[in-house]
Formats: sequence, structure tokens, C-alpha cells
Amino acid sequence: ISLKKHNTFGIDAKAKHFVAIDSVAHLKNVLQLPEYTERFILGGGSNMLLTKDIDALVMHIQLKGKTIVSQDETSVLVKAQAGENWHEFVLWCLQNDFGGLENLSLIPGNVGTAPIQNIGAYGIELKDAFVSCEAVEIETLKTKTFTNEACNFAYRNSVFKQELKGKYIITNVTFKLTKKNHTLHTNYGAITNELEKMNVENPTIQDVSKAVIAIRESKLPNPKEIGNSGSFFKNPIISLNDFKKLKENFPEVPNYPVSSTSVKIPAGWLIEKAGFKGKRFGNYGVHKNQALVLVNYNDAKGIEILKLSQLIQQTINRIFNINIEAEVNII
Ligand code: EPU
Repeated sequence: ISLKKHNTFGIDAKAKHFVAIDSVAHLKNVLQLPEYTERFILGGGSNMLLTKDIDALVMHIQLKGKTIVSQDETSVLVKAQAGENWHEFVLWCLQNDFGGLENLSLIPGNVGTAPIQNIGAYGIELKDAFVSCEAVEIETLKTKTFTNEACNFAYRNSVFKQELKGKYIITNVTFKLTKKNHTLHTNYGAITNELEKMNVENPTIQDVSKAVIAIRESKLPNPKEIGNSGSFFKNPIISLNDFKKLKENFPEVPNYPVSSTSVKIPAGWLIEKAGFKGKRFGNYGVHKNQALVLVNYNDAKGIEILKLSQLIQQTINRIFNINIEAEVNII
């Protein structure tokens, strides 16, 4: 079958074998099938670039459900199954007036894959509300609970991208959210501006979500219209020394402190400065409103987009002496 509608980049790669997983029991049964020793775990397909057909068994995780695990006066524990769409889950939280995930509105993908790269936007990361997740170990079929600490979250990173890569399938995630006295995270410049535009004096978590949605819609292409995987690259973290040298040549370079010895530079700025923003190469290119996003206008091949990403990496390296790493998984 074609995986075109299963990846937000809209790449027409084929899967030889495909199975939709709708329960944990089913998941374990399929993992025991002796004829399929290689598996490809698919969630929302929002963070991958397919550059070839897939021979492995594609397991599309469709576990559904959201439940309140427990609550007190001020907070609530909510558990969502891995196959829930992330944004729909965020909206459900907001309908219940549960706070904590509003800054992560409109991020493509599913609940179960969100911890792998510790999704983050507008001053919040998944780890800030994450309590634990359950995951099935592929080799033993045992279910293990991972606490926040055990996940080793960092910027666009977790244990599931590092030492446990390919070893576990996340089946559900539990979050701790607020029921009242919500803490708003509105100091990210774009949110402050958007809330001002909306003319709300005492913003609610729902207002913050609306502001985030407006910002994302203005900058990021809707994958239903133009294929993309959000940020294609991670923002590079460089040493303070390298930053000083960079600043001599580019005094205007935006930057965010990471520690006393390192700084994060927006890759979007580097790519724009290198002249790629809005560049179109036939069926694919660099998004016009956010240079960090590579786009598939129509039936581009994964390999073409991969080559463009490599050209961008080489050019950035030549001009700024900085290596930018892909954030999306190249398959
Ligand atoms: N910038 C440019 N040109 C561009 C894009 C950005 O000069 O084409 C500059 C902006 O002027 C600004 C800075 O870069 O000074 C930061 O831009 P922005 O606020 O758009 O954020 P970002 O660093 O480019 C990151 C995340 C996004 C997330 C936003 C908002 C990464 C790799 N990306 O982008 O995440 O939505 O911050 O928090 O960390 C994603 O991961 O798919 C994603 C969209």
C-alpha cells in the first residue's frame, strides 16, 4: 500500500506489509508473528522523510482513548492512548479547562510519538507536563512504565531516540495538568504580540491556544495542503566561543542562552541568511514563511528533499562553520 496519506510530507513510498494496531493485545500478537522480524512503527507520520519503500512490517499504532486517572482540587492526571491525534488531545484538555499543553496546540502527530522527540514550542516542552508513559518492549513483550526522569528528556531528544531507539513501542502517556490557577506561558515574543492583537486583557489557556494556532497558521504550512514535517532541522547549539566569532561577522544573529557556555542559534535564520528561504526547486523547496521547513509541493521524491537538505547543511557549514542536524527521521 502507499504510505502517502500516512506521512505528513506526503511522500508516495510503498509498504509491502501494513497492519493497523488497535489494542495492546493485538500489538503483542503481531510482534510474535515469526514471519515479520523487521518492523517499522508508524504513528502520525509527522516527523519522517521516507526516501525508499519499506520492506519491514509497517505497524500503524491506532490505540485510542483518553481517561482521567485521578484528580484533586487543583490538578488532574490524564492518560491518552498512543494513537490519539496530538492536537485533538490538546483541544480536549482545553474543553475540560485542563492547563499545561496549550502552547503545544496544532503540533502534528500523535500522542504516542510526542515523547520520542520531546515536542516543544513557544516556551513549553512536552516534558513539562509529562508524568509517565507505558511502552511494550519489542523483544520481551513486557510492558514497562517510564517516569519523566527515566525518559531523559532534552531539547528534541529522549531515551527513545538514544539508547532505547527501536526497542520499545509507546502505548500511552500520562500528563499532569492544572484545573485552576493555570500558569500561562506567554513571554515568547510572538505570543505576547498575538494576544495583544486579539485584544484580550486576562488571557485564558484557551486564548493562549488560539494565539499559538494563529502564529503557527501564519508561519507553518498546513500539511493537508503542502507536504512537510515541521522543522526539518534542529536549532544548533554552539559554544560561547564560536558564538563570539559568529557575532563578529553577523552582529544581528538571534540567539538563546542554553547554559553558561553554550547558545542556541535558530537554524531558520541561518537558512534564510544563506538565501534558501522560499526557494522552489520544481516540486519541492523551502517554505516562504519559515526557512526551517522543507516542503513537498506535489509528488516530490523523498530523495530529492534529502538532497536539498544536504545542500542546505553544506552551505550553512561553509558560510557559518556550523553543522545543522536533521530533526526529522530520514528513512
Ligand atoms: N527566523 C528567521 N528566518 C526564518 C525562520 C526563523 O530569521 O525563516 C528567526 C526568527 O526571526 C526568530 C528565530 O529565527 O528570531 C526563531 O524563529 P521561530 O520563533 O519561528 O522559531 P524556530 O526556532 O525557528 C522553533 C521550533 C518550532 C517551534 C518554534 C516556536 C525547533 C527545531 N523548531 O522554531 O518547532 O514551533 O520554535 O517555539 O526547535 C517543529 O519542531 O516542527 C517546530 C515547528
